[in-house]
Amino acid sequence: MLRPDYPISTERLLLRPFRDDDLDALNSFQSRADVVRYLYWGPRSRAESAAALAKRVHSATLTEEGQFLAVAVELAETGQLIGDLNLEYLSAEHRQGEIGFVFHPDHHGKGLALEATRELLRLGFEDLGLHRIIGRCDGRNTASAALMERLGMRQEARLRENEIVKGAWTDELVYAMLEGEWKASAARAV
Ligand SMILES: CC(C)(COP(=O)(O)OP(=O)(O)OC[C@H]1O[C@@H](n2cnc3c(N)ncnc32)[C@H](O)[C@@H]1OP(=O)(O)O)[C@@H](O)C(=O)NCCC(=O)NCCS
Repeated sequence: MLRPDYPISTERLLLRPFRDDDLDALNSFQSRADVVRYLYWGPRSRAESAAALAKRVHSATLTEEGQFLAVAVELAETGQLIGDLNLEYLSAEHRQGEIGFVFHPDHHGKGLALEATRELLRLGFEDLGLHRIIGRCDGRNTASAALMERLGMRQEARLRENEIVKGAWTDELVYAMLEGEWKASAARAV
C-alpha cells in the first residue's frame, strides 16, 4: 500500500496527484513528436490525453500489484505542470516496481527530471518497501538512459532488436536498482 503524503516538496519542484484541470499542460508535451519519439504511444490528441489524464487522476495511490502510481510534477516557482511520473507495482511477492518519466522539453537539461525521479525511487523503496526497481528505455533514448545512470541505476541488459517501436526494430535497455543500493546512495548523499 502506498499513499504518498502529498504534496512532496523538493528544492525546485512540487509533486502532487494529477487533477482534471491538468489536461492542457499534459497535452502540451504528450502531443509533441520529439517527446514521444521513443515511446510506444503518441503523439496524443487532446482526447487521447484526456483519457490518459482520467487514468492518472484515479492513480494517486497504490493498493495492489498491477496498479500504477501517477505523480504530477509542478515547478514550485510558477505552479506549471512540467512532468509526468509513474511507478508501476509489478509484484507484491517479489517487491518489484518500474518507474517511468516524461518531461516537457522546455524543462529538460536542468536536472529537474533527476530531482523528481529521485523522489519516485524514494516512494518505491522507503514507503512501498520495494526490493528492486527497474526502468526500461529504447536503446536510442540516450536522455532516458543518462537519467537512469544519474539516478544510480545499473544497466542490466541490452536486449538486441527485441521490439518494433514506431516501425523500426530497436534495442531495449533495462536498468535496475536494489534497495541496498538505494540505502547506500541515500547514505552517501547525507
Ligand atoms: C528522459 C528525460 C525525462 C530526461 O530529462 P533531462 O532533463 O535530460 O534529465 P535531467 O533532469 O537529469 O537533466 C540532466 C541535464 O541537466 C543538466 N543540469 C543542469 N542543472 C542541473 C542540476 N542542478 N542538477 C543536475 N543536472 C543539471 C545536466 O548536466 C544534464 O545536462 P545534459 O543533458 O546536457 O547532460 C527527458 O529527456 C524526456 O522527457 N524525454 C522524453 C520522454 C522520454 O523519452 N521518457 C523516457 C521514457 S523511457
